[in-house]
Amino acid sequence: MSILKIARMGHPVLRRPSAAVPDPAAPEIHRLVADMLETMEDANGAGLAAPQVHVPLRVVMFHVPAGRATGAEDDLPAGLTVLINPEIEVLDQTQDVGWEGCLSVPGLMGAVPRYTRIRYRGIAPDGAPIDRIAAGFHARVAQHECDHLDGILYPMRMTDLSLLGFVEDIKKNFAEAQDVEPE
Ligand code: NI
Repeated sequence: MSILKIARMGHPVLRRPSAAVPDPAAPEIHRLVADMLETMEDANGAGLAAPQVHVPLRVVMFHVPAGRATGAEDDLPAGLTVLINPEIEVLDQTQDVGWEGCLSVPGLMGAVPRYTRIRYRGIAPDGAPIDRIAAGFHARVAQHECDHLDGILYPMRMTDLSLLGFVEDIKKNFAEAQDVEPE
């Protein structure tokens, strides 16, 4: 396994749509997933998408730390989830604004509106289908990661850019921003 270099905002790989994975069971996909996991852990991230490591394929991973899940319906802590060729279906048009950071936008945080309740589907690295309903932070991190596959970074989802700021200043001034890990 190796730690991969993370692309930062401004790199074209973060702006274009990524391609579907033709064979989720291929050895190079297993290698990519292992390297992404090591990279995400090294960077203390809550999630990571393949284009963030300069690989324009539809692969994302994330986890829901106990401190982020509210315990509300479908917003429970979750271990590592890896999704190949994920799809998101919005189940509730309601959006909630919450703090996000991104490993590709280092040093900054922003308040981002996201759908509160979604269904996501994808293929796990072992080939098993994944089909889950998610709410709260679980829904937020899945939307953030899947946006990377379409060339979208969280500032592009923000509706109030006055709430984009430096991590240390946002954390100093907003109590709810304390436990936010970049994704
Ligand atoms: Ni991100």
